Amino acid sequence: MEKNSQEKNSNIILALDFPYEKPENRAALFKRAERVLNEVQPYICAVKFNHHLALPLGLFDRVQKLVEMAHEKGILTIMDCKANDIGATNATIARYYYAAGFDAIIANPFIGWDEGLKPIFDVASQQDCGVILLVYMSHKGAKEGYGQTIIEAESGTKTSQYVSFAKKALKYHADGAVVGATYPEKIREIHKILGEKVPIYSPGIGAQGATVEAAVKAGSRYLIVGREITLSENPAETARKLRELSRSIKTS
Ligand code: XMP
Repeated sequence: MEKNSQEKNSNIILALDFPYEKPENRAALFKRAERVLNEVQPYICAVKFNHHLALPLGLFDRVQKLVEMAHEKGILTIMDCKANDIGATNATIARYYYAAGFDAIIANPFIGWDEGLKPIFDVASQQDCGVILLVYMSHKGAKEGYGQTIIEAESGTKTSQYVSFAKKALKYHADGAVVGATYPEKIREIHKILGEKVPIYSPGIGAQGATVEAAVKAGSRYLIVGREITLSENPAETARKLRELSRSIKTS
């Protein structure tokens, strides 16, 4: 991702999400996704897919076409499936996404390592693909899970759930940690734990109210942006402006 980001001169990851469409309109949905990806591609380093497209378009059908399109333009692909099941199921899910061409998937550390995350990391390392872990989500209710004070199972010490997850992201050599751009103070705290070893990916810019400035200044390396770009009148221009803004903050 680092190499890609440098080559593309961008740390913007497009979340290729669109509102619900009737299933009979999925050909039009595909065309819309294809158009936005094509227009925005000069300004992004990666594209993140979610169930928004995987459900209506089909993984080995049109989603795979979009993944191939992204790769042809030198853009990496992430599946935001938030894998969150038992290990055997997770491993199967991961294999399907990697088989469809995804470079990385997102997983939820709430499931723990043994018979949870480990099978995903095993599949990922066999296939030379990535795993990005949730550490603190971008929505308001995140505090009820990721924000809780816990007694850590291994050490018996009192800490925050997200601090524990950040340390695990380091320990497991995760390829990234997702921390909502909506919580710059959490990004700062988590960045102190992760340093440059595990990059922070931050969703929440624009539609969820977060700003590029606050996230980048606090330590986010990659900014995940969906509706602010996909629903704008001019997706390419919006993506270009976000990229310029982010670059100006990094270098200031
Ligand atoms: P918007 O339209 O709000 O879309 O820019 C954000 C995209 O990112 C996803 N999202 C998250 N994914 N951890 C994740 O792994 C998060 O904390 C998080 N918050 C938002 C969201 O589903 C959408 O695809």
